[in-house]
Amino acid sequence: MDIFDTALAPRGQQDIEWAERAMPAVMAIRERFTREQPLKGMRAAACMHVTAETAVLVRTLAAGGAEVRLCASNPLSVQDTVAAGLAVLDGIEVFAIAGEDRDTYFRHLGQAIEHRPHLVLDDGADLTTLLHTQRTDLLESVIGGTEETTTGVTRLHSMAQEGVLKFPVFAVNDARTKHMFDNRYGTGQSTLDAFMRATNRLIAGSTFVVCGYGWCGRGVAERAAGLGARVIVTEVDPVRGLEAVLDGLTVMPLTDAVERADFLCTTTGNEHVVRAEHFERMKSGIVIANAGHFDVEIDLEALARLATSQRDVRDHLTEFTLPGGRVVLVVAQGRLVNLAAAEGHPADVMDLSFANQALAAEMLALGRDVPPPGVHAIPEEIDSAVARVKLEAIGTRIDTLTDSQERYLAGWRTGT
Ligand SMILES: NC(=O)c1ccc[n+]([C@@H]2O[C@H](COP(=O)([O-])OP(=O)(O)OC[C@H]3O[C@@H](n4cnc5c(N)ncnc54)[C@H](O)[C@@H]3O)[C@@H](O)[C@H]2O)c1
Repeated sequence: MDIFDTALAPRGQQDIEWAERAMPAVMAIRERFTREQPLKGMRAAACMHVTAETAVLVRTLAAGGAEVRLCASNPLSVQDTVAAGLAVLDGIEVFAIAGEDRDTYFRHLGQAIEHRPHLVLDDGADLTTLLHTQRTDLLESVIGGTEETTTGVTRLHSMAQEGVLKFPVFAVNDARTKHMFDNRYGTGQSTLDAFMRATNRLIAGSTFVVCGYGWCGRGVAERAAGLGARVIVTEVDPVRGLEAVLDGLTVMPLTDAVERADFLCTTTGNEHVVRAEHFERMKSGIVIANAGHFDVEIDLEALARLATSQRDVRDHLTEFTLPGGRVVLVVAQGRLVNLAAAEGHPADVMDLSFANQALAAEMLALGRDVPPPGVHAIPEEIDSAVARVKLEAIGTRIDTLTDSQERYLAGWRTGT
C-alpha cells in the first residue's frame, strides 16, 4: 500500500460508516455477497475516486470474496482518511495520496494492477488504457471491466471502434439508475456545494453560466437556478440547446455569456471549452470551475500566459490578474470541482451507481452471459433491480402492470 498516514484510519472508519447509512442498495448486495461469495477467487483492480462511498463498494466486493486493489482516478479527490480506513482496517491494498503528482498517480495505477486482476473497475478509463498500452502482459487474466463515467465510456467506444479493446466492459454510466441520478442530482448538488465552500459567495441574484447541457449540466443548472441564480447555458448540440431554452433558461454563445457571468462551470467532457478569447472578455471577479471528468475543459495554460500575476486567495481558489487589473478566480485548478473542493456526490446517489458496479462485477465473475470484448450496456434487469431496492429502502411503492396492460403494450392490433 501507499497512503498518506495510517493514523487517519479511525476517522476514515467514521466516514465510511456514515456513507454506509445512506447506501441501502449496496449494503443489501453486501449482505448477499457475504453469504454467497460470488467473487471468491477473483482479483479486482479499482481506479476510482477514493471517497467514503467508494470504500463502501470496495468493502462489498471484498465481502463477496474478491481481493481488491484500489488506486485514485483523480489525485485531488482522494480522502486520505478513507484510504487509511480501508488499508488499515480492511487490509485493502490502497495506492492513493491526496494531491499526488502525475508520476505518483501513474505509479499507483501500475501498482493497482500488479496482482494480475480478473476484474477492472474504472472511472475515466485510465486503468483500461494502461492495460492496453504499457501493461499488455496483464491483459490475459482480465475477464472484463466496468466503467463509471461518461468520459471513460467515450474513450472505450473509441478503443472498440479501433478494434483494440480486448475485454468486455459494462458501461455503468449508461445505466438509467446511474446517469439520471449520479450525473444529474449528484453533480448538481455537490458542484454548487463546491462553489459555495470555495468562495462563500451568494448564488442568489448572480448570473451562473453552465457550459454543456447534458446530464451533469442539467443538474448544475437546476441547482443554481434553485438557489436563485439567473442561469445561462452554452451548448454545441442544437437539441440540447433547445431543451435548455424550453426549460426556461437563457442560451447564448460563450463569448457573450462570459461578459455577464459571476460564476461559470464546465460540464462538457470536451477540451478547451473556455479559452483565451473568453478570458479576454470575462467580467472581473468571475469564479470559474470544471465539473467534467478531466482538467482539460478550461485552458489554464492560456489563462496563465495572459495573466500578469496569480495567487491563492483561499483554499482551492486561485486568482489570476489580467492586464488592466481584471481578475479571474479559478476553483481547484480546473479539476473535477465537486470532488476537489467538496466531498463529491452524496452517498444516496452513489448507492445507485455502485449497486450497478457491484452487480456488473458479479455478472463478470460468475461468467454468466459474459459478452465479447467491447462496450456493453448494463442489463435492464440490473437497472430495474437497483431502482426497486432503492425505492423499497426509501419507503416508496409503485404500481404494477395488470396482465391486460402488459398484453396491450406488447401488441399492435389495437389502434384508434
Ligand atoms: N463531476 C462529477 O462528479 C461527474 C459525474 C458524472 C460525470 N462527469 C463527467 O462530466 C462530463 C459530462 O458528463 P455528462 O454525463 O453530462 O455528458 P453528456 O454527454 O450528457 O453532456 C455533455 C454536453 O456537453 C456538450 N458540449 C460538448 N462540447 C461543448 C462545448 N464546446 N460547449 C458547450 N457544450 C458542449 C454536449 O453537446 C453535451 O450536451 C464528462 O466528462 C463526465 O465524465 C462528472
